[in-house]
Amino acid sequence: MHTRIVTINEEKIDAGIIKEAGDIIKSGGLVAFPTETVYGLGGNALDPEASRKIYAAKGRPSDNPLIVHIYRMEDLYEVAADVGSKALKLAEMFWPGPLTMIFNRKDIVPKETTGGLDTVAVRMPDNRIAAEFIKASGGFIAAPSANLSGRPSPTSAKHVTEDMNGRIEMIIDGGSSVIGLESTIVDMTGAVPMILRPGYISGEMVREALGDVDYDPAVFGKQTEGMRPKAPGMKYRHYAPKGELTIVKGRRDAVVGYMKEGLAKGLAQGKRVGIIATDETIGNYGNATLLMNMGAREDEESIARHLYSVLRECDDKEIDIIYSEDFETPRMGQAIMNRLIKAAGHNIIEV
Ligand code: TXA
Ligand code: MG
Repeated sequence: MHTRIVTINEEKIDAGIIKEAGDIIKSGGLVAFPTETVYGLGGNALDPEASRKIYAAKGRPSDNPLIVHIYRMEDLYEVAADVGSKALKLAEMFWPGPLTMIFNRKDIVPKETTGGLDTVAVRMPDNRIAAEFIKASGGFIAAPSANLSGRPSPTSAKHVTEDMNGRIEMIIDGGSSVIGLESTIVDMTGAVPMILRPGYISGEMVREALGDVDYDPAVFGKQTEGMRPKAPGMKYRHYAPKGELTIVKGRRDAVVGYMKEGLAKGLAQGKRVGIIATDETIGNYGNATLLMNMGAREDEESIARHLYSVLRECDDKEIDIIYSEDFETPRMGQAIMNRLIKAAGHNIIEV
């Protein structure tokens, strides 16, 4: 299949291209599109065949449900049942934005889209290209992140092209993702809202809004054998670079010392060694094969934005061993570390 790659400027949206993208969706095809979190791989959420195509293009197990993206509030009621006052409050505060809510599913949403579940995940993205595209497509876009299953989520059209070229009809290049981490997922079907996946909107922000919040244990990576995370996607090994990634945690000078030692040892063994550091520490690792700077330590938005492109770069440059500092930041720290710890397969060293 030939994949058309088009560019749209969010400030000056080309209506002709949006119409073409919408027509592809209406005729059952797939279009990758930008959102404020990561790029999505979109198909018609109400068409079981389109959802099957999404799973095939990603190489994703079909029990892993897709998020339904909408562009206006009234459409929530078309796909979701039992929308309560707490959900409305969160929607008012955070939509459009990086928040996904889980509701009971209405029959109009095929089980292929929800991975066989009786619930449906809904999000209204905060990106004008995404909104116009969803509108032109009929209003309901099923979209997982536009990466091949197991690879880091794409935060640029270049990442999407690496994974999806030849597999889908169109890729809309709308520039780099502003946030760079997937949306926060909150399950609204129980008495107390439950965070299933942390993101830009922290659990604390949800608690402040609603007074009470639970966390699925999978958020902390603590699930034991036999326990199923409530967001099926959280059980898969994700975001993993091909090289062996170790997170080094502790006092800054001890961390730098440990990483420098590991770097020297790896290079001496003829390995290609990558270092993930910050403005404050980057100067210590001059001879690394690949030196990756996440930005200033106090700028958590910069760290979030860089994470996935850094993990992809490790693969591009065929890095064998990767050392990363840890990032305990105030709001998004949980979301950032949740992804980084998964990428490292829980390989953390305290020094
Ligand atoms: O920011 C985002 O959410 C991006 C952009 C494209 O919107 N999308 C995204 O989709 O990250 P995906 O498919 O990569 O991750 C969706 C997660 C998966 O872990 C999936 O298991 C969970 O949401 N999920 C979807 N529907 C669910 C449901 N009904 N119940 C529980 N978890 C659900
Ligand atoms: Mg994903």
